[in-house]
Amino acid sequence: MTAKLISGTETAKAIREELTREVAELKEKHNVVPGLVTILVGEDPASQSYVAAKNKTAHALGIHSEQVTLDPETSEEDLLKLVDKYNKDSKINGILVQLPLPKHINEANVLYAINPDKDVDGFHPVNVGKMVLGEQCFLPCTPHGILELLTRSGVETSGAEVVVIGRSNIVGKPIANLMLQKRDGGNATVTLCHTRTKDMAAHCKRADIIIAAVGVPKMVTADMVKEGAAIIDVGVNRIGKASNGKAILAGDVDFDAVKEVASCITPVPGGVGPMTITMLMKNTVQAAKMAAN
Ligand code: GUN
Repeated sequence: MTAKLISGTETAKAIREELTREVAELKEKHNVVPGLVTILVGEDPASQSYVAAKNKTAHALGIHSEQVTLDPETSEEDLLKLVDKYNKDSKINGILVQLPLPKHINEANVLYAINPDKDVDGFHPVNVGKMVLGEQCFLPCTPHGILELLTRSGVETSGAEVVVIGRSNIVGKPIANLMLQKRDGGNATVTLCHTRTKDMAAHCKRADIIIAAVGVPKMVTADMVKEGAAIIDVGVNRIGKASNGKAILAGDVDFDAVKEVASCITPVPGGVGPMTITMLMKNTVQAAKMAAN
């Protein structure tokens, strides 16, 4: 079998077209322009490129976007003051503090300081709690993007055996939770695997859908995958540098071998990555609509 490619690039393009129309309509009918601020502390190259991509996408969609880059030595107190400033700024509907933060800053203190109504990352405990309860809230962008990829690609989740590998707060825990809920893209039987899981391969081999979010290049090999399974690869691992200086990326899945066993698979790059950014834009538009009502 050669798997069908689940293109995040194509799906994201379709959703961005929908969002571009929504942003234009908000401006036309209500004179509202959604506003996003991204805050980056430090000079991590991967974070710099993610934040730049978020701002570029926002501009392309007609969203007002501000980018703040702070010195790596910035104190927690100064960062909290900045968050507070944007909490009070009516031009800004969404506040994103790029993670990870430098070690001297307590991540929770910063995330909890963001007004939950502007928490377009969906990381504030109010939004996390609402998500777990199945209430209306900002869904975290990567899990939200995975749901959209699965449903728009026609992958049946209801009754499916899903194995999620990785228990991070950003991806593993929320996607496992969303997929077991009574909702479109949910109703699955979910197993959440992690570093202490005894026999990862045995769990994976039973799965109709595998979602890999571990940060270990090519960890999911063909012998771990059931014939016809759907594979979502969240990993973006920098495994070297090309002669032109560009990073060489690999996912958490051994793409070339697994595509011969799976029924469909996301590539890296061009899979989950573009979806994460797109769902951030969707949340920002949602925040602007909430503020306007
Ligand atoms: N770092 C890696 N992924 C994310 C994300 O989705 N949001 C933020 N704020 N930081 C991240």
